[in-house]
This record gives sequence, structure tokens and C-alpha cells, in this order.
Amino acid sequence: MKVSINGKEYLVEAAGNPSLLEVLRDQLNLTGTKYGCGEGACGACKVLINDTPLPACITPLTSVVGKKIVTIEGLERQGELHPVQKVFLDEDVFQCGFCASGMIISAVALLERKPEAGVQELISGLNGNICRCCTYPAIIDALSKLSQKKAEQ
Ligand code: FES
Ligand code: FES
Repeated sequence: MKVSINGKEYLVEAAGNPSLLEVLRDQLNLTGTKYGCGEGACGACKVLINDTPLPACITPLTSVVGKKIVTIEGLERQGELHPVQKVFLDEDVFQCGFCASGMIISAVALLERKPEAGVQELISGLNGNICRCCTYPAIIDALSKLSQKKAEQ
């Protein structure tokens, strides 16, 4: 089966009806996308599917054929991190970092839709992403800096 991931076409094994997450991690070695709960509840495995952040753990491979998938590995452009990645690094928001990939994917989609999102919009936009280290305040502060910058431009 052919799938489009980070702008590249991959031929992957569809036997056993794997989830998109299994294909990313086990077949393509794209291990930036994490396995957390395995049931669509924690957001650790989120990827962009046609620009919408969705949990890859409950997304069957067969449902993404012909769609555009972007993982955390696909966010940088010519060696430059995405602004969301940069601000999270600059502000040193994470502790263990396990939630980072899914959090970044959700934040990228949110700010794409709403570049000047306010604090409440950021909080509700990231509602489906769990951080076990409870770094939420630092995450929201960092994203607020980005959206405020946008608002001032
Ligand atoms: S591992 Fe997919 S949502 Fe938790
Ligand atoms: S930084 Fe540890 S789960 Fe978020």
C-alpha cells in the first residue's frame, strides 16, 4: 500500500490491518511519534492528516491512503525548526518530553487555523493532549508569546 508522509511516497505493508502509528514506528522508523495510551486519549501519537491533528494509534493505515500525512519529522524546513518547535525549545517548556511530539503537532495545527489565538483558545485547542509532567502553564505561555508576536505584526 502507498502512503504519503512528509512529502514522500512510501510503500508499506498492510497485512494485519496495522494502525498508522504501527506503520510509522515499526516499518518506517519514524519514531518521533510516540505511543502513549493506544486508545486515542492522550495525544502522544498525533500527526497531521490533511492538516488535521489526529491520533495515529487509532487510525487504520487503510484510512489514510491518498491523504497527506505530516509527522514531527516533517515540520522542519531546510534545516530550520518550525516556529512552534523553536519557541518550545527556547522557553524550555518540557520535562521528560514524551508528550512533545503530539503537543507540537496540535499546536502547529491550532496556530495555523488561528495564528493570534488567545490563552483560552490555546488551552481548549490543546485539550486532547496530556502532559504527565504537567508542563501546561509553560506550554501555554510559550505559545502565547508566538501568537502575541503574530498579533503585533
Ligand atoms: S497513544 Fe494515541 S492517543 Fe494516546
Ligand atoms: S513533559 Fe513529560 S509528559 Fe509532557
